[in-house]
Amino acid sequence: MRYGYFDDKEKEYVIDHPDVPISWTNYLGVKDLCTVISHNAGGYTFYKSTEHHRVTRFRPNGIPLDRPGHYVYLRDDDTGEFWSLSWQPTGKNLKKAKYICRHGLSYSKFQCDYRDIDAEQLMFIPIEDDVELWDVKIKNRSKRKRNLSVFTYLEFSFHHVEIDNQNFQMSLYASGSNYKDGIIEYDFFYEPWTFHFFASNFTPDSYDCVRDSFIGNYRTESNPIAVDKGECSNSSELGGNHCGSLHKKLTLKPGVSIRLIFMLGVGSRQEKGYEIKKKYSKISNVDSAFKTLKNYWKQKMSVFKCRTPNPGMNSMMNIWTLYQAETCVVWSRFASFIETGGRVGLGYRDTSQDIMGVVHSNPDKTKYRIVQLLKGHTSKGYGLHLFDPDVFEPQENKLPGVKLPTVVPTKRPEDIIHGIEDVCSDDALWLVASICEWIVETGDLAFFNQIIPYADRGEGTVYEHLKKILDFSTEYVGNNGICQGLRADWNDCLNLGGGESVMVSFMHHWALKIFIESAEQLGSYEDAEKYNRIAENVKKACEEQTWDGEWYLRGFTKKGIKIGTSQSEEGKIFLNAQSWAVYSDVASEERAQKCMESVYKYLYCKYGLHLLWPSYSKPDDDIGYVTRVYKGIKENGAIFSHPNPWAVIAECKLGKGNRAMEYYNAILPYNQNDIIEIRQAEPYSYCQFIMGNDHTAFGRARHPWLTGTAGWFYTAAAKYILGIRPTYKGLLIDPCIPADWKNFEVTRKWRGTEYKIKVKNPDSVQKGVKSIKLNGEAINGIVPIQNEGTTNNIEVIMG
Ligand code: NOJ
Repeated sequence: MRYGYFDDKEKEYVIDHPDVPISWTNYLGVKDLCTVISHNAGGYTFYKSTEHHRVTRFRPNGIPLDRPGHYVYLRDDDTGEFWSLSWQPTGKNLKKAKYICRHGLSYSKFQCDYRDIDAEQLMFIPIEDDVELWDVKIKNRSKRKRNLSVFTYLEFSFHHVEIDNQNFQMSLYASGSNYKDGIIEYDFFYEPWTFHFFASNFTPDSYDCVRDSFIGNYRTESNPIAVDKGECSNSSELGGNHCGSLHKKLTLKPGVSIRLIFMLGVGSRQEKGYEIKKKYSKISNVDSAFKTLKNYWKQKMSVFKCRTPNPGMNSMMNIWTLYQAETCVVWSRFASFIETGGRVGLGYRDTSQDIMGVVHSNPDKTKYRIVQLLKGHTSKGYGLHLFDPDVFEPQENKLPGVKLPTVVPTKRPEDIIHGIEDVCSDDALWLVASICEWIVETGDLAFFNQIIPYADRGEGTVYEHLKKILDFSTEYVGNNGICQGLRADWNDCLNLGGGESVMVSFMHHWALKIFIESAEQLGSYEDAEKYNRIAENVKKACEEQTWDGEWYLRGFTKKGIKIGTSQSEEGKIFLNAQSWAVYSDVASEERAQKCMESVYKYLYCKYGLHLLWPSYSKPDDDIGYVTRVYKGIKENGAIFSHPNPWAVIAECKLGKGNRAMEYYNAILPYNQNDIIEIRQAEPYSYCQFIMGNDHTAFGRARHPWLTGTAGWFYTAAAKYILGIRPTYKGLLIDPCIPADWKNFEVTRKWRGTEYKIKVKNPDSVQKGVKSIKLNGEAINGIVPIQNEGTTNNIEVIMG
């Protein structure tokens, strides 16, 4: 069953059946102001942080899931009937009302056709202003004059997530609202510098700032009293719950349309409200802000473009996967309908991985994140698992802390620098690859010499930071010479303490190899030799201690018991131990082939690869929390999405293009568009996991958007399937494709130069390049870096 379709031309996903099983969300904003918005216009806005500076309210884990929202209501003043421009909250009968939601790149459009009135609400946040614009168009399609009323509704938050959710005896009386000159101003008494405003491009006929006056007793957003009556009550108050409702009466002759603009902004009426109202009352400014936003994304998506025989891949790679990866980097991982605020900052491993996918499309933000992560890196070599990067920024420019009697935030560096007991053994290793990839992308080798303080004490160059990361993993090994598991590794729920994580040793080898390449590039040959020796030892330990016969082990408990062995009753085989053995170049050719065959045999299904098999049913705290999760859910045997691309990369390394594509296609959200009765979640976003075949809801996807899957699938497809990889030496072209692909094309911009690559596959091979021509001339191997500003044609013949 399908609820919508991909409109690639407009770069939109179109939901034409809004009664989807669960909210399908989108993200507005690319800088500081963000709204997480559902296909029903439900959701919330925050400014910079989901903990502080929350603008509108969200009722976490509520029913319906996406209340309240940013709504526009229409009322027929002749009949008294009313409806909303998004299907919810009024929820009109879909047989009589036509509703469409178009989720685009940082905008969402709600379209409604009811009672011969066409209406539309376009929502976006201009790049240059901290304001959410609602561009509302209403057209009278009927043959008679229509008397209509337009109402808006949004609910303001108590600004701080905790205040908004607890100890209401204090917070209920801490916020106030007032109305003047067509602008609603909302303030927060504890923080005299905090204001939000809501305005429009017209003089309202009535307004409400008090939530309960607008909604009315024993009513909800579905049937607010103000809309029912046809008029707001001009309420405002100090204390209580507040909203933004502006009302306008309209008379539209047949065929006539009108455009109304609403503005939800950060700042006071005086400071920002008047200015923004003036600016965006001019509709041409709204149009040009929208155009700028569209160009912003067009430019990003022009850095890597592909045309392949796989339409799902084209759509996801050219639009949605990059968009999702960018969203994870810009907003980190803490703003969704699942993460609803409170947890803020950067997850060390998550952000370190996310940036890898966008080095080409967002090099500036990537560098910014890298520096933040390095400031959260300790002199002992490990990263702070989850930290607020603001803590390490100079204090001068900061607003005073929240002076609330109810919440006392502890925000000093010494409060967040944790010891070894809280270290995750993989966290900082990811950063080695991300930094090196960013340097290869930008060519900025000087960055290795930039000095950045450690979180706890002292400072070091970026290069020195990297060595400390690698040395930490060399030092913290267990009895088998394999890296200690510590609090967890990539798998949050594998809690091995002094036990050992095979995946992390593979990662260590991978990071060492990447570092060595950079050391050589810098002429640091002594380091290159030293770390090469370490890499050899890591490889030896892995090969000697972790092979189980048909696949690699996943680890050892602190008592030395093997995890992920055919001898175990449960958790016999783990995906990551196999894909990483291959990806890290640890596995011999023979073992690589064998372990990946085992993956296919035991972990593969039509929706992707399971994380482990069989799921655990008996708690075992020496293995970790994974044994306490229901079977088939999340880390306990779900189709955990994030590791799927690693298996794709592993297959590509083995030259198996058919298999790589089979894995790519199985979990591709695009391919699940027509089975929403099973998948439920949005088909334009990878989800964190899909229920595994040990669960009754096999195939149901959960936790969209904020997952490392997007960045890694982007990498797997761009660099390994299509095989276009920047290196220090030049552009490597090494595709691994299905044998039945006859050709594909990629345009890649790199360091100011454009490469137009056409690949042909006349012999129907899966891997191997027979010849390359650069601008008509035959070359061998890697394409040398070409002069800036040039466009270069590259023809590749596989064979
Ligand atoms: C989600 C977490 O954000 C991520 O850090 C972790 O790697 C996966 N879960 C797997 O546990």
